[in-house]
Amino acid sequence: MLDNPENIYKPSAEFIQNAHVGPDKYKEMYTVSVEDPETFWGEHGKRLDWIEPYTKVKNTCFDFGKVSIKWFEDGVLNVAANCVDRHLATRGDQTAIIFEPDDPNAEAQHITYKELHEKVCRMANVLLSQGVMRGDRVVIYLPMIPEAAYAMLACARIGAVHSIVFAGFSPDALANRINDCGAKLVITADTAPRGGRVTALKSNTDAALLHCSDKVRCLVVKHTGDQTTWIDGRDVDVKALMETAAPDCPPRPMGAEDPLFILYTSGSTGKPKGVVHTSGGYLVYAAMTQEYTFDYHDGDVFWCSADVGWVTGHSYIVYGPLANGATTLMFEGVPTYPDAGRFWAVCEKHKVNQFYTAPTAIRALMGQGPEWVEKYDLSSLKLLGTVGEPINPEAWNWYNELVGKGKLPIVDTWWQTETGGHMITPIPGAVPAKPGSATLPFFGVKPVILDAEKGTEIEGNPAEGVLAIADSWPGQMRTVWGDHERFEATYFQQYKGYYFSGDGCRRDEDGYFWITGRVDDVINVSGHRMGTAEVESALVAHADVAEAAVVGFPHDIKGQGIYCYVTLMNGIEPTDELKKDLEKWVRTEIGPIAKPDHIQWAPGLPKTRSGKIMRRILRKIAENDYGALGDTSTLADPSVVDDLIENRMNK
Ligand code: WT7
Repeated sequence: MLDNPENIYKPSAEFIQNAHVGPDKYKEMYTVSVEDPETFWGEHGKRLDWIEPYTKVKNTCFDFGKVSIKWFEDGVLNVAANCVDRHLATRGDQTAIIFEPDDPNAEAQHITYKELHEKVCRMANVLLSQGVMRGDRVVIYLPMIPEAAYAMLACARIGAVHSIVFAGFSPDALANRINDCGAKLVITADTAPRGGRVTALKSNTDAALLHCSDKVRCLVVKHTGDQTTWIDGRDVDVKALMETAAPDCPPRPMGAEDPLFILYTSGSTGKPKGVVHTSGGYLVYAAMTQEYTFDYHDGDVFWCSADVGWVTGHSYIVYGPLANGATTLMFEGVPTYPDAGRFWAVCEKHKVNQFYTAPTAIRALMGQGPEWVEKYDLSSLKLLGTVGEPINPEAWNWYNELVGKGKLPIVDTWWQTETGGHMITPIPGAVPAKPGSATLPFFGVKPVILDAEKGTEIEGNPAEGVLAIADSWPGQMRTVWGDHERFEATYFQQYKGYYFSGDGCRRDEDGYFWITGRVDDVINVSGHRMGTAEVESALVAHADVAEAAVVGFPHDIKGQGIYCYVTLMNGIEPTDELKKDLEKWVRTEIGPIAKPDHIQWAPGLPKTRSGKIMRRILRKIAENDYGALGDTSTLADPSVVDDLIENRMNK
């Protein structure tokens, strides 16, 4: 710290020398990008191969009631052809995907662009043979195996719309998503090893399909060869069909605004929303951010450790890197298996150049001691990145010193499922880092800080309020699947004329953005986004539960933990056994990621006279911060609060 009193980290001269964007160029490019988006994006849209070039670049409207977002709207392209076919002539024998299996002793696979092309074509032909047509939805419920990428690209190739459901979600969550998007088929695997444990994906899918139309087909990737049940006529062995399918399948010309995928994400109310991303703008944005934010160069090995079940995996394992002709690493396992050195062992083994992970993973590894990092040769690394939540200074310093040896730029990237790609992030050769800040906007992004109550822009620095975006960018979500009204109500109603992010934010004297966390009822648990309402509705679905209120609380490793206040039905005994039972219940209703960290019995919940639960108070109690409870005089029964505090302390 002493030699860096301001805590500002500049890129090295060597990094700057090789960087796509050096210190002077960022400002210049940024200014053009926001002052003349038509010209800027008209130019950068050319990074893709278009079957019919676009003549119209931007056609967007943020007015509530008339929200409409279109980019490159008259252009025609195929996303899979951009991610695969166009690289064949120049880099057909280059590795497109490195697959590192869960078991460190199993052999890694190196899939070349030529091989990727063949696999994607064969998978596309299998989908066609199953009657999947342009615009049909395909749900993908797969672990981190190459077939997940083949399936995504096969859908894109024939114009089907994929919706990936994270393999950690429960059968119920899977069924809801299959039904909401009206999927024609689901692609799954027999079982999935992860961290040495096995998830029974096929049997989860069987359970889900009990709640879906009996027309939904089930394509099974026999990954481990484990025994599963098999329903003839419904279940299909994908690998067997791929072997006999034709190795070529023409890419279907698609409109830039045709949907590419739907990805479900949690909001503050109701069931998860199907975020819709389209083909042209999304791919331009994913590819461009992958190149500039990570300063990716031809020949680099890029590793994003996220899961393809989240948007990070969509944009930075599959679409962004492959559109750029990169070598992208796909890791089936977890950071701590077989030991806490796995990430670094994989970096050494595959000579990774850029590594991108989540603060929660860093915090989990920090506690295991420096020796797990020090024993590996990490000299191939040129840049580190983080995503998912604000990174705390301890984690930042550990990442910087132990992994980066104090020499590598660290990019802290703020973005969302809704934004398709990075929104606020340092451009590493140009923008010095301040630990904990996502720094400055990406090209074409106009972030503003709004007064939360008035909705007016706060000009000048420093500033604090809620984070909104003043104009559209190509990677922006276009709608909520089947519910455009909900799209407008969620993002454009509260602050007219802006896209509202749901995050609080501070802007410092230098104009750097510091995300302070969600201002709504969304929580971020180990980088997984969850609506507290979802956990509440799972709890109240239990026969013994009368009422439940769920809030986030600070958790050393997960960032936020799940704290549940539960009121039992009259006559039900609050026992430890019931607590365990409720934990298990939530796990099976939503999935293991939603398991409560703490359940507190609440004979009553703090409510206003109109019956609204005052979550502010519940959050404070969960945080152990009773001094700051604020005004409780509007409560119908203020004594409820004392009771909750007492029980919290007795815990
Ligand atoms: C929410 C979006 C898109 C990637 C993964 C999460 C939080 C994300 C950061 C960051 C502070 C961050 C925000 C955002 N978030 N990145 N670098 N610094 N907070 O996507 O599941 O859609 O969640 O994650 O609160 O709103 P997501």
